[in-house]
Amino acid sequence: MNETVLITGASGGIGLELARIFAREGRDLALVARSAERLSALAAELEAAHGISVLPLAVDLALEDAPDRIARSLGERKIEVEILVNNAGFGDFGDFAGADWDKLDAMIAVNCRALARLTKLFLGPMLERGRGKILNLASTAAFLPGPLMAVYYASKAFVLSFSEALSRELKGSGVTVTALCPGPTRTGFRDAAALQDSGLFTNLKVAAAEDVAAFGFRALMRGKAVAVHGGLNKAMIFGLRFMPRSLVRGVVLRIQRSRPAGRAAKRD
Ligand SMILES: NC(=O)c1ccc[n+]([C@@H]2O[C@H](COP(=O)([O-])OP(=O)(O)OC[C@H]3O[C@@H](n4cnc5c(N)ncnc54)[C@H](OP(=O)(O)O)[C@@H]3O)[C@@H](O)[C@H]2O)c1
Repeated sequence: MNETVLITGASGGIGLELARIFAREGRDLALVARSAERLSALAAELEAAHGISVLPLAVDLALEDAPDRIARSLGERKIEVEILVNNAGFGDFGDFAGADWDKLDAMIAVNCRALARLTKLFLGPMLERGRGKILNLASTAAFLPGPLMAVYYASKAFVLSFSEALSRELKGSGVTVTALCPGPTRTGFRDAAALQDSGLFTNLKVAAAEDVAAFGFRALMRGKAVAVHGGLNKAMIFGLRFMPRSLVRGVVLRIQRSRPAGRAAKRD
């Protein structure tokens, strides 16, 4: 059996940078996203540069049977997943009442259901082998209610809570679960979430995807349960313990609603 790192959402952003790190480590990869051409190009590039084997799997994780199809494809090729990176995910900016239900439904499917199902499918074999690692992409959003991105923040709260609980259940088993919690990061996320009219990426410090991926990789390898990226984000999450929840709701709303600085300057 070939041992492999399975990364979802590897066609761009944090997932792509994680794929590059694992490739440099000489690990074989299975990469999942919808963009078939981008995945194939990345697979060819990483195979040529690092002499590893990379399997691109063009799959829409919003489809209910997608995780099971991935597991079947890997099983047929006798590939074992030693590290699972549940990174694929997206958000949507705007009030819940006016939001497109199909997009929210797909968001819950990708961010929560596919993540839990992939974990379920690959955890059993990891436990049988007595070793394995799982990295789940949560967010600083997991610690807050998110007016104007209500479902996205709630989906990341699910990821954090699920990952923390699982990491405790698995203590001593040889399998670790890590929840990576980045703040705003420069990737395709902003456009995919229609955040151009939000202040989220202008009011807060924005990290580089390479830095977030390198931080997440180190946390995964150490088997940390929760890894919050960035000093300011850590301080913000610590500070939340002392703030009334009603105040937190209002602050998040104000941060997300305000116009980007450049635009505000032009109009004013
Ligand atoms: N960027 C941020 O500010 C930030 C902050 C905290 C947490 N995060 C989390 O980090 C993770 C990675 O996001 P990113 O920032 O790197 O954004 P990104 O650049 O938009 O990457 C998202 C990845 O997910 C894939 N994906 C989206 N929908 C999919 C679907 N239905 N089926 C399969 N793959 C799908 C995309 O590939 P295709 O489009 O090719 O399918 C892409 O590879 C997400 O879980 C996100 O919530 C991001």
